Amino acid sequence: KNNYRIAILPGDGIGPEIINQALKIINAIKNKFKINITTTEHIIGGKAINLEGSPLSKNTIKCCEQSDAILFGSVGGPQWDHLSRIERPEYGALLTLRKHFNLFANLRPIYLPNNLIHLSPIKPKIIPNGLNIACVRELTGGIYFGQPHGQSGTGLKEYAFDTAIYHRFEIERIAHFAFKLAQKRHKHVTSIDKANVLRTSMLWRKTVSKLATHYYPNIKLQHLYVDNAAMQLIKNPSAFDVILCPNLFGDILSDECAMICGSIGILPSASLNENNFGLYEPAGGSAPDIAGKNLANPIAQILSAALLFRYSLQLNHIATIIEKSVYEALTLGYRTLDISTKSNQPNKIIGTNEMGDIITSLIYKK
Ligand code: NAD
Ligand code: IPM
Ligand code: MN
Repeated sequence: KNNYRIAILPGDGIGPEIINQALKIINAIKNKFKINITTTEHIIGGKAINLEGSPLSKNTIKCCEQSDAILFGSVGGPQWDHLSRIERPEYGALLTLRKHFNLFANLRPIYLPNNLIHLSPIKPKIIPNGLNIACVRELTGGIYFGQPHGQSGTGLKEYAFDTAIYHRFEIERIAHFAFKLAQKRHKHVTSIDKANVLRTSMLWRKTVSKLATHYYPNIKLQHLYVDNAAMQLIKNPSAFDVILCPNLFGDILSDECAMICGSIGILPSASLNENNFGLYEPAGGSAPDIAGKNLANPIAQILSAALLFRYSLQLNHIATIIEKSVYEALTLGYRTLDISTKSNQPNKIIGTNEMGDIITSLIYKK
């Protein structure tokens, strides 16, 4: 195949700024490696609410269906926080796309080479070999989507409820994904739950254990309660290889993992279905506090584009070139504000655009 289509959905807040940097990278790849890629851009999220009256139009969904993958910025912001759950950008655009394309497997690769460990707030002697964790998060089930949910009542009797529900097939397919990934890594899976309290977690633990004994006897499987996991990740992040999480726990622990590497601004994510179709987005959000100021770190978005080349376009060598260029820029000392350190390491503080330009120029040098 030599003609690829990518749907570009910049969204709100820093979304457009960081997507623009990823577009520079995609253009560089197109030019240098003569790959035929068509990108089509669509408004989504709060911006689409303002301009079209809904966060995700039918036309945008159709364009995504006709593409090989989606590159997504971020959606949401204070301007739309008063809206109802389904009208909001988060549910109306992002969660709807995840569900529509059955993107049940969310991969967030937490990686920091050992020459950059000073970016981590963890003491260097605790992470002498850098960081390399794969966070696998179930993305289309659990408390995010369970029925019923709702709110009612008034005054002090006003109440709201969500339902956490997991079916065995949902647990099995994400566990297969995590175990298969572990087979290509260090053969160690840490499954996260709250099986001392929650029924969904009891089913989760039982299902993951059975699957491990039946299909993956060579993988070391460990179970941790989510509260303990949050603590162990800070104490000894090197003890983790693949982390397997239900939807909500994975949301929380992946932000923690991002910070263990230095910033939410460098953590990419791939949300995949069974056919390698994927939505690729930074793990962080629209960052309204820094939007429009050329301050946002574009690296999470650029590394998300790399994941897109690897998993949906199956162009692993291109993904590797992008990733190498990112770590080269960091090794040269270029830093956006979120990852600038006071250490005596080289430290050239630059903006969103400049970081995009530097990484692009490093790709041209490959
Ligand atoms: P956030 O991730 O947007 O911001 C949290 C903090 O991290 C802020 O201080 C922000 O400035 C910083 N930050 C985030 N990305 C950064 C980057 N690339 N470079 C530098 N700093 C960065 O989380 P929040 O404040 O909880 O949420 C803000 C909005 O984003 C909300 O509407 C939320 O629902 C939405 N959100 C969207 C997505 C998404 O679209 N995928 C993900 C998370 C949050
Ligand atoms: C993420 C985000 C989303 C989530 C929100 C914006 C719906 O926090 O991708 O981590 O909770 O999944
Ligand atoms: Mn999140």
